[in-house]
Amino acid sequence: MTVASSILLATGCSDSTSGKDSGSGKDSLPAVGATIYKFDDNFMSYVRRSMETSAKDNVKLMLNDSQNDQAKQIEQVDTLIAKGAKSLAINLVDPKAAQTIIDKAKPKNIPVIFFNKEPDASVLKGYDKAYYVGTTSSESGVLQGQLIAKAWEANKDKYDKNKDGKLQYVLLKGEPGHPDAEARTKFAVDTVKEKGIQVEELAMDTAMWDATKATEKMDAWLAKYSDKIEFVIANNDGMALGAVASLEKAGYFSGDKFMPVVGVDAIPEALEMIEKGKMVGTVLNDAKNQGKATIELAANAAKGKDVLDGTEWKLDDNKAVRVPYIEITKDNIQVGKDAYK
Ligand code: GAL
Ligand code: CA
Repeated sequence: MTVASSILLATGCSDSTSGKDSGSGKDSLPAVGATIYKFDDNFMSYVRRSMETSAKDNVKLMLNDSQNDQAKQIEQVDTLIAKGAKSLAINLVDPKAAQTIIDKAKPKNIPVIFFNKEPDASVLKGYDKAYYVGTTSSESGVLQGQLIAKAWEANKDKYDKNKDGKLQYVLLKGEPGHPDAEARTKFAVDTVKEKGIQVEELAMDTAMWDATKATEKMDAWLAKYSDKIEFVIANNDGMALGAVASLEKAGYFSGDKFMPVVGVDAIPEALEMIEKGKMVGTVLNDAKNQGKATIELAANAAKGKDVLDGTEWKLDDNKAVRVPYIEITKDNIQVGKDAYK
């Protein structure tokens, strides 16, 4: 490590440029200013890693941890612009704050690539240099619903504990108002119903994408409903892992005490649980390609090129690149592993 970068680290990195822009030649590369809503998010840490890999030798990436604080993120954007960012890659804290960011970038003609938290289409339309990189949120819900329905049909004897033919579930929701959380919640359950399976919701609450919060919720639900719960549906793997931890404490996954749990993301820790039989499946949220696409578009924008120049991505009518989701079970677990390599 160079002296300069250790000083950078020593002086604290909350408004840092990862201490990575030291060293030869980096200053001649165009600067991309980026924010992640919080570094302490399991899935986003993989997106971040992919962004850093894609930025290498291509752009000078100034990456900030917004620490789940929208006001802080707005200050970071001011600083990034002051430091000469030629484009911005923004993972919003609050999806509703997109306009505020655009209001800062547009007067300076700085392109903005939003990623992971989708802004309203009308807001993106209002600035010709604003784009989105993410997914089609509803797709993850539909795929998760299909996975639940298939698992239920194949294991009804075991899963339908009270033999009433209905699937009694609890649902761990992501951040309320987050397009992924809202769409996954709705489409997962709707899809199960469309397959002709009757469902009954015992409980649903947010655990904010977070494993620890999910363990607490699941502890409380097990205390209240115990054996009445027949399925645990989680909007992401972080919360699914939190639920598994709670279930293990309560004696599940040993002997014939079992609970089907599903998530979304396919992070390596969840794939491990699937292999151990402690999760039924998940839906791949392709962190690597979302991080790569974000940097590729932001790099092109910073160089004044067409955002898609030299890339394999396509924009839809809302100026969005949408990376597909894939259903993951034990049968195709390698697909998940490859995506997080
Ligand atoms: C979702 C992901 C969650 C969480 C969230 C953050 O796409 O599935 O695990 O990372 O983004 O915005
Ligand atoms: Ca039942």
